[in-house]
Amino acid sequence: MSIERGRDDERVWQREDVSGVDGSVCEGWGDERGERADTVCVPDVWPVPDVWKGGVVWGSALAVSDTILGDVPESEVKSETWIVCPDTHVAPVGSVEGGIDPRADSVLKQAIRIVRPDGFVHIGDVGEWESASHWQWTKRKRPPFEFMKPLIMADVRAVNKWLDEIDRELDKAGTTKRMVTEGNHEVWCDNFAIEEARPEFGAKALMRIKERGWEWHEHGEFAKIGKLNLTHGGHFTGLHHAYKTVLGLSASCMYGHFHNVESAHVMHLGGAHGAWAIGCLCKMRKKFLGGKPTSWSHAFGIVHVEANGQFHVEVVDIFDGVAYMYGRRVEAK
Ligand SMILES: [Fe+2]
Ligand SMILES: [Fe+2]
Repeated sequence: MSIERGRDDERVWQREDVSGVDGSVCEGWGDERGERADTVCVPDVWPVPDVWKGGVVWGSALAVSDTILGDVPESEVKSETWIVCPDTHVAPVGSVEGGIDPRADSVLKQAIRIVRPDGFVHIGDVGEWESASHWQWTKRKRPPFEFMKPLIMADVRAVNKWLDEIDRELDKAGTTKRMVTEGNHEVWCDNFAIEEARPEFGAKALMRIKERGWEWHEHGEFAKIGKLNLTHGGHFTGLHHAYKTVLGLSASCMYGHFHNVESAHVMHLGGAHGAWAIGCLCKMRKKFLGGKPTSWSHAFGIVHVEANGQFHVEVVDIFDGVAYMYGRRVEAK
């Protein structure tokens, strides 16, 4: 019996040639996150090797992948680094409620150059989208579309200008994987598009997500980096939302929406899970707050993901335009 192991761009694999059993060959493979895996035996009546039984019997992708990855020398295991960007609330110059903080923006862009991540995910509230907000029309009738259109297009230009800048930074850094999980402010655009029967005014279309080649996740859905789930946030609210999130999901999750930094860990019988709220990058003085102090702070996430899906989180705090990453002081320009 001979065993051959290797890896290519998409999967780790193991081929086992079983002599003496009709010359049968069995192959097992899984991707690095353990999300796709399969086992093929030829002929299919061939007995499953003990080493793969867990995966085959349970039909578990992870079991197959973990078994195989366990035998791959560490030097051959490919890990990934991601930058996770929280609420930016990009808005046109002069916006009363919205806008990205320019110093936080500068630190984020420098982080892309330093980290050169494999992937970048924006976890929603990309734009403020004040023009599409239903809140401004609670005591007034919303004007006709012809009046609204120029206001919305001003927001569209501001948001796309910023996304273009990020795309250019990511191109230079060689970052090929890009995702966004829709925020509740993007939903304002979706609602406007539905009410006006103009699907081209939905957030995904307005931000040209498809043309940019970004992966899109609807509001409330979860993207995934290894075993870490990512979403905009808001499923679990109130005091100690990180603790509620990790308990409620029984899984690890990184999210934004609350604009504050908070984390919690729990040990379940199924393993250790964590939840991280990673602050925001938006301006923190808002008219609607009426001068009320908040717990908001500027931050973003760096996530290192190992080939078996295990991950390590760094929440990078930005205070007064200064952050530290990989031991290096980074100051807003
Ligand atoms: Fe937000
Ligand atoms: Fe939000």
